[in-house]
Amino acid sequence: MEYFSKKKFLALCKTEHCGKKILYFENLDSTNEHAVKLEDRAVKLNRSGDFLKNLNGVLIISETQQKGRGRNYKKWFSPPGGLWFTLILVLKIEPSDVNKINLIMAISILESLKDRYEINIKVRWPNDIYYENGKQQNKICGILSELNHHDRLSFLNIGAGLNANISFGNFSGNESSLTGNAVSLKEILKKDIDREEILADIMENFETNYKRYLQYHDLKSIFLKIENLILI
Ligand code: BTN
Repeated sequence: MEYFSKKKFLALCKTEHCGKKILYFENLDSTNEHAVKLEDRAVKLNRSGDFLKNLNGVLIISETQQKGRGRNYKKWFSPPGGLWFTLILVLKIEPSDVNKINLIMAISILESLKDRYEINIKVRWPNDIYYENGKQQNKICGILSELNHHDRLSFLNIGAGLNANISFGNFSGNESSLTGNAVSLKEILKKDIDREEILADIMENFETNYKRYLQYHDLKSIFLKIENLILI
């Protein structure tokens, strides 16, 4: 397996904030959990507001996760070859915004995948991405955004798991019971994809969409881009 190259990713990533600082690991319990630990530690050490705000846009990536978590307390199977990441946003936020930002990430991932590869994928409301093949629908990506609220400010940890270069067919027993109806880009395209390239695209699309949302507080124009690509 080829390891994720931080250097290559940083050269490709053309954003202002998102993904400009990355923390890369070969193995973690969970990138979302790591984000919480980092934020709590910074708050506990009573770091200045500026220091805390510097966590905005930090991207945590791990090649594997031992305790990757999904929604509804499900375990998220995170073997080598996937893209398991968490993007930290430091923000003043209403709880109702969490789902909207989660959706913006789903739309941004969908756009990035559609632009790079000609594959039939859709957003399954509110935050999964599925591959459609005839009547069959298989999950290719899941997103879990978690709010870590502190008095002075809040952190939103947007965790995404994209089944990139994984061969699910190679797993058996316990592991295969965790994969459910998952499919990977490698299985669809019959080749490995460039993980640094697609993650750089995702960061760029997310930053553009998120800025637009912050400016106009209007999801509609972002949503219109994918209105025909929703599975209900
Ligand atoms: C779901 O579909 O239930 C959401 C899955 C989210 C998985 C990602 S992988 C990176 C990040 N870290 C985690 O522990 N979970 C999210």
